[in-house]
Amino acid sequence: MPLLSVVDLAVSYGSGRDRLRAVDGVSLEVGRGETVALVGESGCGKSTLGRAVLRLEPVERGRIDFDGTDLVGLGAHALKRLRPRLQIVFQDPLGSLNPRLTIGETLAVPLAVQGIGRAERHERVGAMLAEVGLPVGSDRLYPHEFSGGQRQRVAIARALVSKPDLVVCDEPVSALDLSVQAQILNLLVRLKREFGLAYLFVSHDLAVVRHIADRVLVMYLGRVVESAPSEALWSRPLHPYTRALIEAVPDPARRRPAVPLAGDLPDPRNPPSGCRFRSRCPIATARCAEEDPGVREIEPGHAVACHLAPTGSFETTVRGGTP
Ligand SMILES: Nc1ncnc2c1ncn2[C@@H]1O[C@H](COP(=O)(O)OP(=O)(O)OP(=O)(O)O)[C@@H](O)[C@H]1O
Ligand code: SF4
Ligand SMILES: [Mg+2]
Repeated sequence: MPLLSVVDLAVSYGSGRDRLRAVDGVSLEVGRGETVALVGESGCGKSTLGRAVLRLEPVERGRIDFDGTDLVGLGAHALKRLRPRLQIVFQDPLGSLNPRLTIGETLAVPLAVQGIGRAERHERVGAMLAEVGLPVGSDRLYPHEFSGGQRQRVAIARALVSKPDLVVCDEPVSALDLSVQAQILNLLVRLKREFGLAYLFVSHDLAVVRHIADRVLVMYLGRVVESAPSEALWSRPLHPYTRALIEAVPDPARRRPAVPLAGDLPDPRNPPSGCRFRSRCPIATARCAEEDPGVREIEPGHAVACHLAPTGSFETTVRGGTP
């Protein structure tokens, strides 16, 4: 049984003609100790999905099973008791840390919720801060007294101090300098191994997830359009959107410039009929406007939502797109 199993999850904002289906029927699984990445352009619903999985967004429909417990049906009290096992790290650590609490106090909160006594709290907070590479005495400082990279270490320490099973990482390195990004990614990888964590790792940057994800889910306008083991996605991307995302990654070894993704994201309140990607798809056919392709498994563990996959050839088709 996977640690997390999500079936047909939907989250909407607004109502009537303004209704925006931010997550529209997504299914996914995360195994124990596994890193699953969610990638896609800004606004495709990654953060909404990541938060909804932790019940931090109202769920419109669908199932979320976490270690055998149905999270959607869970009351507030039971959910609170489960919280220590389900944590999140945000892009902006300063915004997610209470400015009025010292780091030591912030880290002690989830432990107090678990009923852990003062002495053990102090010990675990100190050990956790050392684990993420912060100097002794950091527990007495406030969030603004740290650098951006250090603050993200604090946010990671806060998420891990309660010994969670699953951590949603929502663009945890996007706000950091490139050199610091690598340090934080390495830290996350080491902690995952040490603590036996599973990550749902949200990123708009395929290059970031390439080396840390076991599997990747590509999202477009609230839906998953392709999911595959990380290396299969890179070596054999099947969806034209995935191919475009990969083409857009700068790669010095490829000796040709990155190709930016053509066209704008359609209005998510009024997505195209049939296949939602068709307004930007270089190989779209008339069928694509009529029929929603749905997700099909092409080979074990590799699924795609495209009528033409796996035969539709990107290279042999004139790039054009349909109006
Ligand atoms: N609280 C909200 N109220 C209304 N609309 C929202 C809300 N939160 C998100 N949305 C909309 O839902 C869609 C998905 O947003 P979401 O933040 O999940 O995207 P994302 O993939 O995480 O994007 P980014 O890469 O920019 O973080 C967007 O169109 C966004 O404008
Ligand atoms: S279903 Fe059609 S429009 Fe959608 S990605 Fe495939 S070819 Fe392109
Ligand atoms: Mg986001």
